[in-house]
Amino acid sequence: MYQEKAKILWNNQAGNEYYRIGLTCHKGYSGAKPGQFIMLHFPGRMAPFLPRPFSIHRIIKTGGRTAGIELLYKVVGKGTKMLSGHCKGDVVNILGPLGNGFIFSNHYKRIFIVAGGIGVAPMLFLASYLKTKGTNSSECMVFLGGRSKDDLLCSDDFLRMGMKIHITTDDGSAGDQCFVTHPLETALERDRPDIIYACGPLEMLKCVAGISEKHTVPCQVSIETVMACGMGACLGCAVERKEASGNYMHVCFDGPVFDVRCLEL
Ligand SMILES: Cc1cc2nc3c(=O)[nH]c(=O)nc-3n(C[C@H](O)[C@H](O)[C@H](O)COP(=O)(O)OP(=O)(O)OC[C@H]3O[C@@H](n4cnc5c(N)ncnc54)[C@H](O)[C@@H]3O)c2cc1C
Ligand code: FES
Repeated sequence: MYQEKAKILWNNQAGNEYYRIGLTCHKGYSGAKPGQFIMLHFPGRMAPFLPRPFSIHRIIKTGGRTAGIELLYKVVGKGTKMLSGHCKGDVVNILGPLGNGFIFSNHYKRIFIVAGGIGVAPMLFLASYLKTKGTNSSECMVFLGGRSKDDLLCSDDFLRMGMKIHITTDDGSAGDQCFVTHPLETALERDRPDIIYACGPLEMLKCVAGISEKHTVPCQVSIETVMACGMGACLGCAVERKEASGNYMHVCFDGPVFDVRCLEL
């Protein structure tokens, strides 16, 4: 885990409310796993007191060496609004990589990736990681859902990796007009995957968890809670363990990726 001042390499708008920010980082991030995150803190008196968590979206490489990380973020409040106003050359404080990350097994051949809205942020890193593990991209299917076409990000990146992609929107402005879990269940009934990886809004994750349970398909989900420290010190990110009332896990420390069977979503 590295605490450092990171220089902003770029901070480009990627849609109405979305941005991609490149940050310099310690070379130790070459060992970061998809699903891991950083805590980002702004210097300055006007900045929010608490740091904000963001998933690693991509490892930036130059000449085969780790030169930085890229985050994909949505402007939702004070901190992300402030971040969107930062420019190339500005400096922020980052702590990471934090958390556990998605677990991969060589037995996973047929893989379903489910991403809702900004939940796609860690999934692009996951997709490129799967490629480095020798996964056959044509056996990976990505289910990408958003409220409207403006909330669909990274579809071209997944396609470039040779993955099949199924797009849905709530308003029908792109892909099928339905929840992303509909094509997921249809595809799963046709040809069962070895694993489902998912990240997105809680309601989506609950539905994915139900589908995985019904069809007894293993499933790992990345979940979000409000976080103050990101490293197990404040105990503010507690979630209850399934079938063990009063027994808590901490999203920043035990997660943010969990086997759905352990979680009371
Ligand atoms: C492990 C982890 C990884 C994350 N990765 C990303 C990412 O890659 N890209 C991205 O855009 N966002 C990500 N988030 C969510 C991001 O941290 C919040 O959107 C951000 O902290 C909001 O800060 P703010 O000051 O702009 O909003 P605030 O003013 O703090 O809040 C604005 C609104 O967002 C809600 N909110 C704040 N924090 C969270 C949260 N953690 N989860 C759900 N709702 C929240 C608040 O309840 C409020 O309604 C991640 C969160 C976690 C826990
Ligand atoms: S955010 Fe402080 S313990 Fe998890």
